[in-house]
Amino acid sequence: MPVLRYALTAVLLVAVVAGCGGSGSDSSRSSATQVIVDGDGAFDDVKAILYLLEQPDIEVLAITMSGTGIGHCPAAAENVSAVLERIEAPDIPVACGRTTPLEGNNEAPEVWRNATDNLGGVDLPDPRALAGVGAPALLAETISASDGIVLVALGPLTNVAEAVEAEPGLLDRVEMIYLMGGAVDVPGNMIDVNPAAEFNIWADPHAAAIVFDTDVPITLVPLDATNAVPVTPYLYEAVSAHRDASAVSQFTADYLDATPLIGGLYHWDELAAVIATDESVATIEDRNLAIEEEGGAQAGATLESPAGRVVRVAVDADREAFEDHFYQAIIGTGDTGLPAWEPDASLTWDGTACSYAGPDPLPDLLVVQINNLGVDPVALITGAYAPGTTTADAEALRASGSTETPEWWKQQALIGVLAGAHDVWFVEGGSDITALCYLDNTRFWEIAGPRLTD
Ligand code: BDR
Ligand code: CA
Repeated sequence: MPVLRYALTAVLLVAVVAGCGGSGSDSSRSSATQVIVDGDGAFDDVKAILYLLEQPDIEVLAITMSGTGIGHCPAAAENVSAVLERIEAPDIPVACGRTTPLEGNNEAPEVWRNATDNLGGVDLPDPRALAGVGAPALLAETISASDGIVLVALGPLTNVAEAVEAEPGLLDRVEMIYLMGGAVDVPGNMIDVNPAAEFNIWADPHAAAIVFDTDVPITLVPLDATNAVPVTPYLYEAVSAHRDASAVSQFTADYLDATPLIGGLYHWDELAAVIATDESVATIEDRNLAIEEEGGAQAGATLESPAGRVVRVAVDADREAFEDHFYQAIIGTGDTGLPAWEPDASLTWDGTACSYAGPDPLPDLLVVQINNLGVDPVALITGAYAPGTTTADAEALRASGSTETPEWWKQQALIGVLAGAHDVWFVEGGSDITALCYLDNTRFWEIAGPRLTD
């Protein structure tokens, strides 16, 4: 498993890395619902689309991919089209959009984008022909021809905004947008560029502002809710145990085999898709939100503002209820027959103290869940001190304002977790490895392994 190596500095990990009837409160649907999916072709988008395709009371009319998120265009659309072919899905038009945001130049790191373009190399047939039009036109055509439609938006809103600019009243025909994006009472996940913003909104803030400026009802599924559904080894165990259940489970198992679990992933888009089919898995509150379009520390944030618009915000989610819906679709049963997943170790920052529960010393490899219940980023650091140096030296170095990685500290990992998050990571250990809980650049607590305080 890749273990992330970072200098002993404040560089915290990018933890990035979605009942109908308008604002109706009914939590399940009474009849088939027409749905369009717009996304960005990432690991979770694909599983969210599979989830929706498996819903008996949903008809997916079109799938559009943005070229401004994680996947590139046309690769993201070709991948989705190839997945549809592999699972023998109905003939659904798929299109890709523009490759630059409507304004600005925010972009995910190429290494992430390229890794997404071939879906980890999973076995796929040739894609079906893409729609003969671009994503905004396909959105407009499909919405205009429908008699009330739900849009599940799982990536930057570039395509949707471009369609609105071409036809300002277009979204009047959309009953609800279920939007994976934003962060309201918790930090964003663009920690090394803008801690206030979540990726989908950050990638094209102006597009988000255009959509927020319409009257379309929006149910936002922000990090506040997705923090409840981290990706854990359970996903791999459950899908692998039921890989022969269907074409969807077989593909998902192959996909998971091809894309080993790294840390810090969440079921972001899958949660938005599940909430679009059953809102009872979430706690939803009305909030007044505006998109921060200006640059600077808040760029791309979803801010509470009297000048904002009413948005239905999923402020929390029920992980078990989510998993029941998700696995029912992907492997045909919510009862996977597996025991509930537990990490090998857990590190919890409660805002005043770090507590660690798990093996000490650290075994060679363990799965750690890091629960940040505070308001500041907290990190788990593992490494080994040179003889004669102690944690007091590390604290003195940080207190001096130095950001260097001292030669007397051989670091293995520094895993930063944002307030409200519950990241799951694989961590290398060893009997000579000291594990530290690390906060706000100066405070360290030795939590496992050799104790090297004065
Ligand atoms: C969002 O960013 C994308 O990479 C994911 O697919 C998800 O939609 C999470 O911030
Ligand atoms: Ca996405």
